[in-house]
This record gives sequence, C-alpha cells and structure tokens, in this order.
Amino acid sequence: MTQDKTTKTLKAIALIATGSLLSLVLALVLFGGAAPIPYSDPGGLVRWGTPFVKILMNLSMAITVGSLALSAFAGNEAERERLRPVAAWAASLWLLSASIYFVFTYLSASGSQISYGPEFSESLWLFATQIELGMLLAWNLLFAFILSLSVIAFRDRRMVAVNAAIAIAGLYPLAESGHASADAGHAIAVNSMLMHLVGISVWVGGLFALYAVFSSEKGRSQILASRYSTLALFAFILVAVSGVTAGYIRLYQPSDLLSGYGLLLIGKAVVLVLLGVYGAIHRRNLIAKISHGVVGFWTLAASELLFMGVAMGLATALARTAPPVSPNEFVPPTAAELLAGDPLPPELLPSSWFTVWDFDVLWATISILGILVYLYGVSVLRKRGDKWPVIRTASWIFGMVTLFYVTNGAPNAYQEYLFSVHMVGHMILTMMVPVLLVPGAPVTLLSRAQAPRTDGSFGLREWVLWAVHTPYAWFLSQPLFAGLNFALSLVMFYYTPLFRFSTESHLGHQWMIGHFLLTGYLFVQSLIGVDPQPHKPVFPVKLMLLIGTMAFHAFFGLGLMNEKGLLLADWFGSMGRTWGDDPLADQAIGGAFAWGVGELPTLAITLIVVYQWSKSDDRERKRLDRASDRSGNKDILDYNQMLEKLNQTPERRN
Ligand code: HEM
Repeated sequence: MTQDKTTKTLKAIALIATGSLLSLVLALVLFGGAAPIPYSDPGGLVRWGTPFVKILMNLSMAITVGSLALSAFAGNEAERERLRPVAAWAASLWLLSASIYFVFTYLSASGSQISYGPEFSESLWLFATQIELGMLLAWNLLFAFILSLSVIAFRDRRMVAVNAAIAIAGLYPLAESGHASADAGHAIAVNSMLMHLVGISVWVGGLFALYAVFSSEKGRSQILASRYSTLALFAFILVAVSGVTAGYIRLYQPSDLLSGYGLLLIGKAVVLVLLGVYGAIHRRNLIAKISHGVVGFWTLAASELLFMGVAMGLATALARTAPPVSPNEFVPPTAAELLAGDPLPPELLPSSWFTVWDFDVLWATISILGILVYLYGVSVLRKRGDKWPVIRTASWIFGMVTLFYVTNGAPNAYQEYLFSVHMVGHMILTMMVPVLLVPGAPVTLLSRAQAPRTDGSFGLREWVLWAVHTPYAWFLSQPLFAGLNFALSLVMFYYTPLFRFSTESHLGHQWMIGHFLLTGYLFVQSLIGVDPQPHKPVFPVKLMLLIGTMAFHAFFGLGLMNEKGLLLADWFGSMGRTWGDDPLADQAIGGAFAWGVGELPTLAITLIVVYQWSKSDDRERKRLDRASDRSGNKDILDYNQMLEKLNQTPERRN
C-alpha cells in the first residue's frame, strides 16, 4: 500500500470515527441509551460497551458491503484488486465486533455477569440456538465469518458479486432484530430496516472505499466517482424512504417528536438532507472536474464522511434509545395479533378491495423505482432518436402498478387472515404481473439504453446480460422446466411445510413473493417473451404447455374446493374472525379463485401466442416471397414444373 494511500485510508477512518463517536457519546449522554437499567443491570461496561461495539459493527458492515458493491459495479480488474484489502479488513472487523456484540447482548438480555466456566459457554450456545435475538445475531456472525474468509480466498469478478450478495444478506438478521422485532407492523418494520441498512452500507461504505483507495488519483477516479454517484443516488432514496417509514411507525402522536427518540430522528433527518445536498453538488459540478486535478470533490467527500459518521453515531444511539410507548401497549392482544402480529383488518366487503391498504415499503419502492428506471431508459432512447413501442412501456407500467397493488393493497392486507385472499394475491403475483411485465422487454431496453462498458468493468447492463446467458438461466428458462416449475410450485407450496414457513415468518413471506413472481416471469417469458432467450419452442409446443398449465390449475383449484381439511388450521382457523365465511368455506373459495383468477392470464397468454404465431407466419411468408422475387420466382417455376411433370406421367394420362 503506497504512503499516499495509507494516509488517505487513515484520514477516512479518522473522519468517520470522529463523527460517529462524538455523536454517539453525545446522544447516549443526552437521551440515556446507556443509562443504568432498573432490573438485572448488566453493569456500566456492558451498557456503554454495547453501543461502542455496535457502532464499530455498523461501520465495518457498511464498509464491507460498500467496497464490495463498488468493486462489483464500478471497478475493472486492477481496481477490484485494490479494493479487496479494504473489504477484507472490514469483514474481519465485522467478525470481531459482531462476536463482542453477541456476548454483550447476551449479558444485557440475561442480566448475568461474564464468567469463564462451562455454564457460561453453554448458556451462550443456548442463546445462539434457542433465543430468537441470539439466533439472529449468530446468523449475522456466521455471515461475517464466511465473508472474512471468502473475500480473501476469491478474487474473480463473479465471486466479488457473490461476496457483495452475502454481505447484504448478512444485514437481514439485524433488520429482524432490535426494535423492529417488537414493533406492531413487524413486516414494514423489518423491510424498512433492511432497506435502510442496505442503503446506508452501499452509500457510506462505498464513499469510504472510494476515498480511501482512489482519492489520490486523477484519471480513473472520475469514472469511479461518477459510477459511485449513481449507486449513491439509489442508496440515498432507499435510506430516505426507509428511514422516514421506520421513524413514522414508531411515533404515535406529534409530541413523540420531542421525545429523546423523536429528537434523534430529527437529527438524523437533518444530516440526511445535508448529505443529500452534498450528493447533488457532487453530481452537478464536482465529479466532472476531478480529471482536471480539481480537488473539490475529494475535499467535499472528506467532510461528507464526517457527517455520515455523525448520522451513524446518532443511529446507533437511536437503536439503544427507548422508542415512544404505543397507546395499545397494554391492551391485551387479540388472537389475530398473537398470530400475525397485527390486528384483523375490517370486514372484507366489495369496496374493501379499493379502500383497505397495508403499505409495504420494500415492494412499494421496488414497483415505483421499477417504473421510474424503465421510463428513464425509454427517455434515453428517445433522446437518441430511437423508437420504443408505447405498448411495451404501457404494459410494463401496468405490470408494476399491479405489483404495487398486490403487495400494498387489499390482497396484502387480508392475505394473512383469509386463505381466499391469499390465493387471489398469489395468482395475481405469479400470473397477472408477469403477463404484463414480460412484454415490457426490460432486458432489451437496458441493453439498448445503457452504453456498454469498455474498461473491463461490469455495470448493470453487463451483469444482466451475463446473468441471462449463464447455464442456470438456460436451464431455468427451458419452457418445459419453466412450465413444470410454475405448475408444481403451487402444489409444493400449499401441500408442504413451505406454506407454514411463508405464512408464519417474514423471511418466508418475502421468499414466497420473490419465488412466485420469478416462476411466473420465467414461464411467461418462455412463451411470449420479447427479450433474448436461449430457447425458441415452436408454437404448437407453447400451446400444449399452456393447455397443460390450464388443466393443472383447474385440477389444483378443484382439489382445494373439495378439500375436507383446513390447510394451516391453527392459523386460518384461529384468527378469531367474526365476519365472512367460515375458514373451510373460505378455503374452497380460494380453490375457485386458483382456478378462475389463474385462467384469465393464461387465456391472455394463449391469445398473445396465437397472435405471435400468425405474425411469424406472415413474416415467414413475406421472407419466402422476397426470396422468390430475388430468385425471379424460381421456386414457383420449379414447383409448376414439378406439377407439369407429374401431369405428364403415363399412368396419369390414362
Ligand atoms: C430521514 C432520515 C433518517 C431517519 C428518519 C432514520 C430512521 C432510523 C430508524 C427509525 C432506525 C431504527 C432505529 C431503531 O432500531 O429503533 C434507524 C436505524 C439506523 N439508521 Fe437511520 N434514519 C435516517 C437517516 C439515516 C442516515 C442518513 C444514516 C447514515 C448515513 C442512518 C443510519 C442508520 C443506522 C446505521 C441504523 C441502524 C442502527 C442500529 O441498529 O444500530 N440513518 N434509522
């Protein structure tokens, strides 16, 4: 490591550490995040040690994720190699701080003192394997352990992306723990925290790595800074949306803003706005000047790191500060609240499909960003004078609006309580949304709108094109496999423990949304996809696959309608619902929906396949006509000659 680079790295560490430690100490002193606890106080060392270890953990996690994300999306081979030590050190620090945080959290939770006997390690093991908080922190520790080895062991491009994905996955257990684990509206608390941690890590960790490794250079650092700036823009949106959501669900009345927790939130919001202004200044006029040796960008980046440290310190104190007490805190929970964590929604009436909403910040952000990024791609083509069919844009936008509705509207509000609505949501997700998204041809738009990289680095365009050409994509998009995967996923899901996993656990529910969206997309793409794909099944095969799927849906639906037992009876049968059909009748309605709602999109696909078939026949005929014209209609002449010859054979003449 050059002298200059060491200085820059040490400077980056000093800046972010100063900001975070100052704000952490101030916030803990002012708002009592480390104050003695009335019962089973673990002692000063643990009370003060925990937030300090946690800030180290938050920063090392952020730098691990950020440096790997910068590597995967911005750097060429040489730059990835220079960023690797940053990721390796950060991952090791994450492992160390997460281990200490694990022990400190155990001591806080159990109120016991540290000891060196076997009982202590046995109870630690119990904490790691039996207690939800302990298990979540143990998972985070395991991810840190794997990363601290794999970042050192592997250096090729794909493994950098895999390591970045492992690092982001390692944030999930922390999103499930902390205040989010106790919150009413557990789903929105966990999703907002996950978005928050991912956004912060890419943003803060990316700038740290960029500054530490490239701030003493001119040439390439401008390209890297502008690529980081695009990542930072998305990260900023994630942090702002998720931060406001996470703050909002923990405040119950305006006066809560003046509580310690509320004031810390305000402090963070102020820093966020400030950092947003930094970002805008960077994008507007400083990045372009880097290659001219103007240091403005790096000077500003240095102070930005300081403020990011301040926000991280405030955040760590926030997580240790008691949020305002919910007015329903001491109201005995209903059966639905004990099971689903949230009260029953109002009675399901026809109007409820339009009036009852259950906001999910993650899928709302995905669908809104999905529309904005797509429209940005279309505007790039338009600016270049290239055409893009309006029908594709309309279909994509309608698809994203439908995804927004099914993950935020009545289907999301009732799916935990009513099997029938769960099935409606499922069918819209796996059939209707893909039938609208696939004709949008997103891969084609991306490959045309984004300029290809020429420096050996991979941007979004390169990663997507790489992904769709891998052997895995070849196998998954095989029409027969896509059809079987699509159809059998229904049975596999409802008639195996997967149904309970996706109903009772937040992670399971998110997996279900992702799995059914993807299986539906792969199936529809294999039949009517416009985007490039390795398989070109002939139209009759496509129609046979569709008929097979239709039949399967019908049998599946009929099976459910005639089901004598209630699926997940201890869930759907124990909700304490006093309105609507009884759970078994509701399940049968679900079966009818599986049949009915599933068939509509299948019909739409069939019509599109038949339309594409007639179009391809037209094209084929025109091609043959053109070929015939070019050859002076030699084919027709040959054909007539053949007919002539046939006509002249002796038998025929008799
Ligand atoms: C509008 C601005 C923001 C709001 C409203 C906000 C809100 C929140 C909330 C409610 C939490 C959960 C704390 C808890 O567990 O109770 C949180 C956690 C966190 N926030 Fe923010 N945030 C904002 C901006 C930021 C920024 C700009 C950063 C850093 C650059 C940041 C870093 C973090 C971190 C690291 C955590 C996890 C803390 C921990 O669990 O140790 N936040 N934020």
